[in-house]
Amino acid sequence: MDETHQGRITKEGIRIYSDADFAGMRKAGALAAKILDDISSLVKPGATTGEIDTAIETAVKDAGAKSATIGYKGYQHASCISVNHVVCHGIPGPKTLKEGDILNVDVTVIVDGWFGDTSRMYVAGKLNRKAERLIQVTHDALMKGIEQVKPGNTFGDIGYAIQRFVEAHRMSVVRDFCGHGLGRVFHAPPNVLHYGRPGTGALLEEGMFFTIEPMVNLGRPETKVLADDWTAVTRDKSLSAQFEHSVGVTSDGCEIFTASPGGKFHPTYS
Ligand code: MF3
Ligand code: CO
Ligand code: CO
Repeated sequence: MDETHQGRITKEGIRIYSDADFAGMRKAGALAAKILDDISSLVKPGATTGEIDTAIETAVKDAGAKSATIGYKGYQHASCISVNHVVCHGIPGPKTLKEGDILNVDVTVIVDGWFGDTSRMYVAGKLNRKAERLIQVTHDALMKGIEQVKPGNTFGDIGYAIQRFVEAHRMSVVRDFCGHGLGRVFHAPPNVLHYGRPGTGALLEEGMFFTIEPMVNLGRPETKVLADDWTAVTRDKSLSAQFEHSVGVTSDGCEIFTASPGGKFHPTYS
């Protein structure tokens, strides 16, 4: 990459990272993804979301890493676990999973100061057809967004690709939460919207690091946050799904830092 541009901040406040920084993100992303691979066997009817979170907290510690979420704005857990109509930021606890529940598990770790942030969907027991369709569309929507990540495209191109795909399947994109820049910080510019218009927004440049993390609802897009100040749910109680990757823009595309080492990103692997 053009070395003179490393460490620059764009006019939109987006940091341009160096080749060496990619190595840091690779390590952090790989750990977050490995932890999500390793907890898949724990997700089954009868398990509690608190048990899954405890296993994640232990795995982060055992790796010599730090949880980015414990202590973040008062949050006290190593993961967010969002079941069924919970859109995001579900708090792990005594809730028992039942047959057919779908859940997003979102983990962010800090390795040598670098943040790896990823989430994916799981199912307790057997997946029913409606939930399977939602999960498939949400996963594919993230991948459509990632396909747009290359220098010269804009953030609007990413949002448009996601929105067009989701709405073609008669589902809706959540507007109230977005992806974000990250690196040596958890949340940095830009806001990565999962809807938008082609050619709008900041230009993508080699060396930008950010997440794409679309939330898709079977019903309407509106959400509300519960009295615990974290848990976001669909207003119409419809089922919601989310997938998240951390990516870095390369000279001709992007690197996915949080790719699953075991090929378990999509819940219907077997
Ligand atoms: N990992 C979430 C994200 O994708 C943020 C969780 S913040 C928490 O940005 F405090 F709720 F854990
Ligand atoms: Co994120
Ligand atoms: Co996340």
